[in-house]
Amino acid sequence: MTATLNQQIQQFYDASSGLWEQVWGEHMHHGYYGPEGKQKKDRRQAQIDLITELLTWSGVQQAAQILDVGCGIGGSSLYLAEKFQAAVTGITLSPVQAARAAERAQAAGMEPRSNKVQAQFQVADALNMPFASSSFDLVWSLESGEHMPDKAKFLQECYRVLKPGGRLILATWCHRPIPPALNSEEQTHLAKIYQVYHLPYVISLPEYEQIAQSLNWQNIRTADWSKAVAPFWDVVIDSALNPASVWGLLSAGWPTIQAALSLGLMSNGYRQGLIRFGLLTASK
Ligand SMILES: C[S@@+](CC[C@H](N)C(=O)[O-])C[C@H]1O[C@@H](n2cnc3c(N)ncnc32)[C@H](O)[C@@H]1O
Repeated sequence: MTATLNQQIQQFYDASSGLWEQVWGEHMHHGYYGPEGKQKKDRRQAQIDLITELLTWSGVQQAAQILDVGCGIGGSSLYLAEKFQAAVTGITLSPVQAARAAERAQAAGMEPRSNKVQAQFQVADALNMPFASSSFDLVWSLESGEHMPDKAKFLQECYRVLKPGGRLILATWCHRPIPPALNSEEQTHLAKIYQVYHLPYVISLPEYEQIAQSLNWQNIRTADWSKAVAPFWDVVIDSALNPASVWGLLSAGWPTIQAALSLGLMSNGYRQGLIRFGLLTASK
């Protein structure tokens, strides 16, 4: 199950990342449109604002060794390396993403060498990370948790690689809190999203919090930022309709086309209160 899922995720990002970068740039995550989602702003700025708002919310003000779990093409990694003058390691399942992220780091003068501002990337599985325990003082995971087939193992691995006192910042797709139990319409809606975006399943934010508590994370805080980020999907739908995107979609292949055709699933999911954007920060 896991091997197949990881291969699907890899193939999805191998095929779609180039197009995403061309149309959207280096950040593969939601934008932040103000606490109520009412602010109008440039789409790339909204994505950068999500990173800065997350940092402000978490209270993290410094970090020297950072791990970016599910790093995409290194959008957050390079941002965090620069901001904190830090060494960042990014992991992804996609070799295409890891190579592109390394290329971008080199172009930014952040390739691994003796200077302390550096970013390096590798293909690795977040559920079995190739790092010694207590290696990092910040673990950052922006929209990768939804892909993890074992959420407890995921949080456990993040805990293991953090130094004592280190902090986790997690932002991930969730479903609404339960009870009441998800009805069959909601389950069908989620199943379509899972299929299109290669997600095994998502859980609610309170469930993430319970897992974190059971793993002995300290100073746990959570927040639901669904309102702040939901407008993102309408902007993506607009951008997918421009001629360059349509041509790019045709070249990227069926899984990417299917993802584009299904963008409405996310915006409707937010509108119905089924899809939630969950934040969790905690320290070791
Ligand atoms: C939506 S992208 C987010 C990229 C990046 N965080 C950003 O905000 O630009 C999801 C990322 O999670 C990664 N991912 C999914 N499952 C993973 C796993 N088991 N181990 C490592 N990375 C994983 C994918 O390879 C991809 O890079």
